[in-house]
Amino acid sequence: MLSNLMLLFISILVSSFIFTTHSYNNKCLRHQEILLLQLKDELIFNSSLSTKLVRWNESGECCKWHGVECDASGYVVSLQLDGEAISGGVGDSSSLFRFKYLQKLNLAYNDFGYTHHIPKGIGNLTYLTHLNLSNAGFVGQVPSEISSLTRLASLDISANSLNLEHPNLEMLVQNLTELRELHLDGVNMSSFHERKSQGHIISSHLPNLTTLSMVGCGLYGPLPQSFWQLHSLSILRLDENDLSAVALHDLVSNFPSLATLTLSDCRLKGCIPSTFANLTKLIHVDLSHNSLTGSLPSTFFEGLSNLFHLNLMANIFSGNIPQSLFALPSLLELDLSYNQFNGTFQLDNFRSLPNLTLLDLSGNSLSVDAGNVNSSSYGGLQLKSLSLASCNLSKFPDFIKHLDLKALNLANNQIAGEIPSWVWGTQLDHLDLSLNLLTDMQKPYHIPACLQAIRLESNQLKGELQLSIPVESQLHYIDVANNLLSGELQLHIPFISDVRYLSLSHNNLNGSIPTFLCNATHPSSLDLSGNILSGSIPPCLLANIFALDLSRNNISGNIPDIFPMDCGLNYLDLNNNTLEGKIPKSLEHCKWLEYMNVGNNMMNDTFPCMRTSTLRVLVLHSNGFHGHVRCHISWPNLQILDISSNHFSGSLESINFSSWMAMELPGDEKLRGGP
Ligand SMILES: *[C@@H]1O[C@H](CO)[C@@H](O)[C@H](O)[C@H]1NC(C)=O
Ligand SMILES: *[C@@H]1O[C@H](CO)[C@@H](O)[C@H](O)[C@H]1NC(C)=O
Ligand SMILES: *[C@@H]1O[C@H](CO)[C@@H](O)[C@H](O)[C@H]1NC(C)=O
Ligand SMILES: *[C@@H]1O[C@H](CO)[C@@H](O)[C@H](O)[C@H]1NC(C)=O
Ligand SMILES: *[C@@H]1O[C@H](CO)[C@@H](O)[C@H](O)[C@H]1NC(C)=O
Ligand SMILES: *[C@@H]1O[C@H](CO)[C@@H](O)[C@H](O)[C@H]1NC(C)=O
Ligand SMILES: *[C@@H]1O[C@H](CO)[C@@H](O)[C@H](O)[C@H]1NC(C)=O
Ligand SMILES: *[C@@H]1O[C@H](CO)[C@@H](O)[C@H](O)[C@H]1NC(C)=O
Ligand SMILES: *[C@@H]1O[C@H](CO)[C@@H](O)[C@H](O)[C@H]1NC(C)=O
Ligand SMILES: *[C@@H]1O[C@H](CO)[C@@H](O)[C@H](O)[C@H]1NC(C)=O
Ligand SMILES: *[C@@H]1O[C@H](CO)[C@@H](O)[C@H](O)[C@H]1NC(C)=O
Ligand SMILES: *[C@@H]1O[C@H](CO)[C@@H](O)[C@H](O)[C@H]1NC(C)=O
Repeated sequence: MLSNLMLLFISILVSSFIFTTHSYNNKCLRHQEILLLQLKDELIFNSSLSTKLVRWNESGECCKWHGVECDASGYVVSLQLDGEAISGGVGDSSSLFRFKYLQKLNLAYNDFGYTHHIPKGIGNLTYLTHLNLSNAGFVGQVPSEISSLTRLASLDISANSLNLEHPNLEMLVQNLTELRELHLDGVNMSSFHERKSQGHIISSHLPNLTTLSMVGCGLYGPLPQSFWQLHSLSILRLDENDLSAVALHDLVSNFPSLATLTLSDCRLKGCIPSTFANLTKLIHVDLSHNSLTGSLPSTFFEGLSNLFHLNLMANIFSGNIPQSLFALPSLLELDLSYNQFNGTFQLDNFRSLPNLTLLDLSGNSLSVDAGNVNSSSYGGLQLKSLSLASCNLSKFPDFIKHLDLKALNLANNQIAGEIPSWVWGTQLDHLDLSLNLLTDMQKPYHIPACLQAIRLESNQLKGELQLSIPVESQLHYIDVANNLLSGELQLHIPFISDVRYLSLSHNNLNGSIPTFLCNATHPSSLDLSGNILSGSIPPCLLANIFALDLSRNNISGNIPDIFPMDCGLNYLDLNNNTLEGKIPKSLEHCKWLEYMNVGNNMMNDTFPCMRTSTLRVLVLHSNGFHGHVRCHISWPNLQILDISSNHFSGSLESINFSSWMAMELPGDEKLRGGP
């Protein structure tokens, strides 16, 4: 009996012990809580942008504070302080470095303003396995203290303004044998080239590195021996470096496990080696913006059955598009644009790629045949973005009507006739049909509210402008220049629209400039040049404009003197109209004005002594300007001044030409592009 009671008692004790220790496990230790509050106190952060730190306070369990994690005994092991608008308060003696069991620290996406170094105190956090200081605004040399964090599995210091010289990369990672992920994008590493004496450090010590990202690190010349021994790499990103001395063959044969290879803008030359097809794990390949040449053999992509994303844009590849591409059913995005691929290409091929969402064949020497296609069989395609610019198309590929595209580019073909109403789809956001032979728009048509940019320039669209823009439109770019539009300028832009670029230049539009343009355009560019518009300039047009071109019309009257105090005007071309009166005094408010051309008008004023130091071009040619050219101001950026064919008198001595420094620049190139 007694023993039974004893047993019961003991078991209660045990269970309560278990219970209590269990609940203690959830509690952060008092000294850790104090340290957290001390850290919050020291950090300088914007509390209206912070979502975690700002909510740290003494009420509530500190291990559950946002961004905090503790281990079983209540020590803080993880601080995720990314995106907290921290701008300072992390000195070498910061409380941050007293969390001695910290394993994960994330200070990414903060705002150290390129005035703070990475604090050396980081070296005290010897338990760190994950350190993320990316996009945080740190500056200067990466501190050697990081090289003592021997447990690091992931280090991300990309997108700051850092350099790696002393220590250099080899020294930094010498003892970081556990590293699996290393992100150094934007870290200046010009010391990372071949040096015979120290070539073997990275490789022999980073056996497990699977991710290496060194985008825009200033790499050039041969890469060190040690780099080539990182055989476990699965993700390699070296975009925006000078790898002209690197053979693609070496990249392919040394890293057999690659799944991601991005080498955009690396000055690569030569052909893609046939061994490329050995990289059977490839998922994502970007070789765009290089000078790679040669043709792609028809069997080229056999075996790359995992390939999702292939970007070969802007190289010098030639020959046919290899058939083996169409045996990659997993392909999602294929960009072969701006190469020299030639031959006839059957669009029908793409039926074997049911999951393809992006296809770009623009800017090659291809003749795309959309002809003998049973268009209804395209019904299942996922295609969202289709670019077939400069593909020798003579009509709209019919199968497009079975797609619901977000982006369509058929520019620079020979497509004539009407723009079919199905082109507009329901989710289109970018449409480029420029440089064709289009004459009309099939009606009725419905422009989807999500359309953002439309380019119809350089066609043969005739008659009145028909674009009728939906209410709540997101259109901000409209170009219908170089067509045969005639009649009065009317464009039904809803009041709340956000058009930032509108060009109707080089048409035959007449009538006056309608005031609805004022409401529809935000700090924007408006180009109505080369029409036969008459009447005066609506004052409201000048209230909120960045670039205005009304040249080569019949616009008359005065230039309204209503430029606002915060005028943002940069470009003003009123050349070749019949404007009268004076240069408006309020133009002085436009302190960003660079280009002003009022030539070939009938203006009657004295020389405009505007205090606009940004001015680069001033054309007053052929007007009634008169009096002395006398100003006590300097235009340090002025490159072109044309005051010919006016009635100026006196000499030009009073102008301090020596202060017009831009004019003194050697060579005449700066003076090109004048009227
Ligand atoms: C904090 O951020 C808000 C919102 O962006 C901003 O308005 C405010 O000026 C910022 N405060 C400081 C002190 O930078
Ligand atoms: C403390 O934090 C909790 C949880 O974020 C919050 O609800 C509470 O309002 C805060 N208290 C103070 C005094 O800021
Ligand atoms: C970091 O470590 C050094 C040497 O071990 C020590 O002197 C210093 O106080 C530590 N700093 C902090 C903030 O704990
Ligand atoms: C670093 O943190 C940022 C922001 O949280 C994140 O986007 C990025 O992927 C992280 N880097 C690594 C290597 O996890
Ligand atoms: C790496 O570790 C070795 C042995 O502990 C040491 O001698 C060396 O200085 C360390 N290197 C760096 C860069 O910290
Ligand atoms: C590399 O990873 C393997 C498996 O994850 C592990 O067993 C090994 O210890 C790691 N090597 C080093 C040097 O960290
Ligand atoms: C690549 O594949 C070819 C066969 O296509 C084979 O002969 C060659 O040995 C492979 N190379 C490597 C490095 O695996
Ligand atoms: C296409 O995508 C679907 C859904 O993501 C997937 O289930 C299917 O396997 C993919 N097809 C191919 C051929 O990869
Ligand atoms: C394609 O270009 C190659 C040279 O790059 C040329 O030999 C071939 O004749 C061209 N084919 C066609 C159909 O134009
Ligand atoms: C422009 O907007 C103003 C209100 O800001 C309105 O009174 C005026 O009627 C609008 N003009 C046109 C032509 O839509
Ligand atoms: C003015 O524009 C008209 C019509 O575009 C053109 O014929 C004429 O040559 C231009 N005159 C000058 C001086 O540029
Ligand atoms: C220019 O304006 C002045 C007065 O502002 C006037 O006297 C003169 O006649 C005008 N010249 C011409 C050519 O209209």
